[in-house]
Amino acid sequence: CGIVGYVGAKSAAPILIDGLARLEYRGYDSAGVAVLGSTSLRVHRDTGRVRDLEATLPKRFAGKLGIGHTRWATHGAPTPENAHPHVSMDGRVAVVHNGIIDNAAALRAALQADGVTFSSETDTEVLAHLIARVLAKGADGISGTDGDSGADGARHRPSTLEDAVLTALDQVEGTYGIAVASADHPDRIVVARNGSPIILGIGEREMHVASDAAALVRYTRQVVHLDDGELATVRADGYQTFTRHARTTKTAITVDWTADDYQADGHEHFMHKEIVEQPEAVHRCLRGRLDERFATAHLGGLNMDPREAREFRRVKILGCGSAYYAGQLGAQFIEEVARIPADAEPASEFRYRNPVIEKDTLYVAVSQSGETFDTLVAVQELKRKGGRVVGLVNVVGSSIARECDGGIYLHAGPEVAVASTKALTNMGVAFALLGIHLGRIRDLSPADGARLIAGLQRLPEQIEAVLKDEERLASIARRLSAAESLFYIGRTRGYPVAREGAQKLKEISYRHAEAYQTSELKHGPLALISPDVPTVAIVPDDDLVERNTGALHEIAARSGPLYVVTHPGVELGDVSAEPITVPKNETELDPIVLTIPLQLLAYHASRELGHDVDKPRNLAKSVTVE
Ligand code: G6P
Repeated sequence: CGIVGYVGAKSAAPILIDGLARLEYRGYDSAGVAVLGSTSLRVHRDTGRVRDLEATLPKRFAGKLGIGHTRWATHGAPTPENAHPHVSMDGRVAVVHNGIIDNAAALRAALQADGVTFSSETDTEVLAHLIARVLAKGADGISGTDGDSGADGARHRPSTLEDAVLTALDQVEGTYGIAVASADHPDRIVVARNGSPIILGIGEREMHVASDAAALVRYTRQVVHLDDGELATVRADGYQTFTRHARTTKTAITVDWTADDYQADGHEHFMHKEIVEQPEAVHRCLRGRLDERFATAHLGGLNMDPREAREFRRVKILGCGSAYYAGQLGAQFIEEVARIPADAEPASEFRYRNPVIEKDTLYVAVSQSGETFDTLVAVQELKRKGGRVVGLVNVVGSSIARECDGGIYLHAGPEVAVASTKALTNMGVAFALLGIHLGRIRDLSPADGARLIAGLQRLPEQIEAVLKDEERLASIARRLSAAESLFYIGRTRGYPVAREGAQKLKEISYRHAEAYQTSELKHGPLALISPDVPTVAIVPDDDLVERNTGALHEIAARSGPLYVVTHPGVELGDVSAEPITVPKNETELDPIVLTIPLQLLAYHASRELGHDVDKPRNLAKSVTVE
C-alpha cells in the first residue's frame, strides 16, 4: 500500500495522483484521493490503475490540501467502497492508512452500537469514525466523564485534530501509518506512524507526505522519517513532530535518489533496466569499501569494533523471498571465507519459533526495501532479547535500517520491478564484503583477502559480459517458457543460485519451477524427469564439477532437456545439453555471476508469455503487512 499527501499553494490532486503513480510499483489493486475544497472534502476512489483514477477525476476537484492512497487488499475485497480514503459519516474527516488494525472488529461493533453506519469492510474506516466523533463531541465528550456533551454547551471543549487523532489511536491495536485531513482544520494534515513508514518531504512553502520516498523525489529530496509512536502536524509552512508525551526534534536527510532513477529510460520494463544497471550498481556498492593495502573491506556503517567482531561464534542471516536466498548465498560465503558457522533462515519463520538468541551470534537482516514486515519484526524480536543485529538494506532510512545497530547499505539505487535483480546482486556483493571484513580479523590470509578483492573488482565487467549474451538467453527462454514445469538444480554454492533462479521464473512467468540440490535429485525428484520437464543445472568449475556432470547424465538418460549454466572449459562429455557459459571468478564469488543469466531467462520467459513483467499477479514489491 502507499500513502501520499500534499499541502501548499498548488492544486493538490495532480500532485497526489502523480505520487500515487510512482507508488504503483509496490503493488496495489485500488486507489483514491481526498482533496479539501473551500469548506468540504471531496473524495474520488476506484479499483484499477492510477491512470484510470486520473481519467475519471471529476471536474472542479480543486483544493490545495489532500491525501491519497494505493491499496493492496487485506481486509475486504478490492472494490471502490473499500478503497481509501475513508470518510466519516459527516464527511468531514478523511483517512488513508497502511497497516492492519487488529481490534477493528471490536471497534466496529462498538461504533455500530453507537449509531455509526459503515460504508466499507475495511479496518481503516473505524479510524475515520473515531476521529470524527472526538471532533464532533469535543475532547471532553469522549473522555468518559460525560458521554453526551450536547446537553451542556459549557462543557464542550473543541478538540484539535491532533488530539482527536491521538484519542482515536489510543483505542487502536495494530500497525499503522496514517494521514488524516479534516474539513474543520483546513490548514493541516496530521500523520502518525506505528510500524508502517511515514516520510515528510520538505518543499518551498509546501509540504509532502508519503510512505515511500519514490512519491516525493520529484518535488523535494529533503525528507524526515517519523519513528514509531511519532505523529506530525504538516502545514504548508512546515511541520511539527510529537509523541503522546512531548514534542520531538527531527533532522532532515537528503535522499540521493532522483526522479530520473524511477524512469524506465527507454527500456520496455523496469526489470530490464535494472538488470542492465547491474555493473554500475556493483561499482557503487564497492566504492570506497575496498582496502587493497590491508586486503580487507572497510565497512564503517557496521559500527562494530574488531574485538567484538572476533567474538562471534555464529552468523545468522534473516530475510524473506529473494533476500532469503541471497542470505543463503551470504551464509555460504561467510562460512567459507571467515570460517564462522553461518546459516540463513526465512525471517517469517524465525520470528514465530521462539528461537534461542545468543550473545555471540551476529544476526544479519537482509532486505531491499527495508520495510518487509516479517523481517522488521524479526529484528525487533532480536533486539528485545539482546541480539546484535546488522542490516544489509538498500533503502536508506528505511524501518529495518533504522532498527538495526549498524549495517551495509547496498547502493543499488531504486528498484521498481517486483522481481529483484540489482538489489539482489548487491546483497551478494555486500555479503562478500562482510565475509572478507570478518575473515581478515580472524584467519583469512592477506593473500586470500587480496585474491577476493581482485575478484570483486572484476564483477562489473563479468556481469557486462553475461548481459552481452542476452539474445541467446532470450531464445533459450522462449523454449523454457513452453514447459509447464521445470527443475533448477545446484549444490553447495550453486544451490542458492538455483533457488533464486526458480523463484524468479515462478514470480514472473507463473511457470512451476522447483529448485533442488543436485545431490538430492536421485533421492526423489528424478522420478519426474521427462522430455516435458526441462532442468536448468548450475555447474560451476569447482571441486564438485565431476559429481555435477554425473548428475547430468542421469537426467539425460531420462530424456530430460538440459540447460547448463557453467564456466568455460567445463567438459559436459557426451551429455546432450545447451550450455550457458559465464565468466569464471574466484570460486567463492562465482554465485554472483551465475545468477545473472537466470534473471534474463525469467525476464524473457515472462515477456514471451505476455505477462506483466514488472507487476506480476498477486505479488507486491514489499510486503509491509503480516
Ligand atoms: C516480497 C517480494 C519479493 C522480495 C521479498 C523481500 O515478497 O515480492 O520479491 O524478495 O518481498 O523483500 P525485501 O524488500 O525485504 O528484500
